[in-house]
Amino acid sequence: MTARIIDGKQVAADIRAELKAEVAKLKAKGIVPGLGVILVGDDPASVSYVTGKERTCAELGIYSDHHHLPEGTSQDELMRLVARMNADPRINGILVQLPLPRHMNESEVLFAIDPEKDVDGFHPVSVGKMVVGEKAFLSCTPHGVLHLLIRSGVKIEGSHVVIVGRSNIVGKPLANMLIQKNPTGNATVTVCHTRTKDLAYHTRQADILVAAAGRPNTITADMVKDGAVVIDVGVNRVEDASRKQGYRLVGDVDFEAVKEKASLITPVPGGVGPMTITMLMYNTVLSAKRTAGIAAD
Ligand code: GUN
Repeated sequence: MTARIIDGKQVAADIRAELKAEVAKLKAKGIVPGLGVILVGDDPASVSYVTGKERTCAELGIYSDHHHLPEGTSQDELMRLVARMNADPRINGILVQLPLPRHMNESEVLFAIDPEKDVDGFHPVSVGKMVVGEKAFLSCTPHGVLHLLIRSGVKIEGSHVVIVGRSNIVGKPLANMLIQKNPTGNATVTVCHTRTKDLAYHTRQADILVAAAGRPNTITADMVKDGAVVIDVGVNRVEDASRKQGYRLVGDVDFEAVKEKASLITPVPGGVGPMTITMLMYNTVLSAKRTAGIAAD
């Protein structure tokens, strides 16, 4: 079987078009959704993500307040900026780009964000609400995976989803979203990680296999059941002298071999990546609607 490729760029563009129309309607009511973005340091991948976020805000008509702070910024300075954004009524969502420099306490920063502006969904209040099935901001990458599955017509209910990776950003929240007793959940979920014995045994059971390990070639063709849906969350830079930048992006899945076995597969780039920023915009618009008392969800 050769897999159908899930076009994350197209799905993201469809959702962004819906959001753009929604932002225009909100503007007509005098409501302008706003996103505060904080980047500390010059990590090239983070700079590129943050640039994408600013560009997408502009494209959708979302106000953005962007702060690029030097690597040596103190924890106190960063905490003061977060506090200022918490108090700023123009800002509905706050995003502190991770990873932060080593001298900073990431948890202290994330926990200082007002949960009502936690569009990344990383605050314990957001995580806790999501786990118990209350309305919450869902973190962007797992939420993007969920939308890719739904919009690609994949049946989640009753499926066995195997997630490789247990990060706070992807694996743990995705597992929790998929076991929820609701129409976009009801899956049976296995979470594998670096201490899992016989990873291939588990991955071969998957109807839906999600790779979020952060290592190229974690998933090879022999680890995939015929006809499985394969979602690759990995973004890895590998050296490539034939490219201008000297590297290319690959996921965690051996794409060329696995696409001959899967029924549906996401590429890297162009799969999950474009969905992450889109879901951030979705959460920012949702936050603006909640603040205005007009959110349905
Ligand atoms: N770094 C990598 N992914 C993310 C994300 O989804 N949010 C933030 N804030 N930082 C990240």
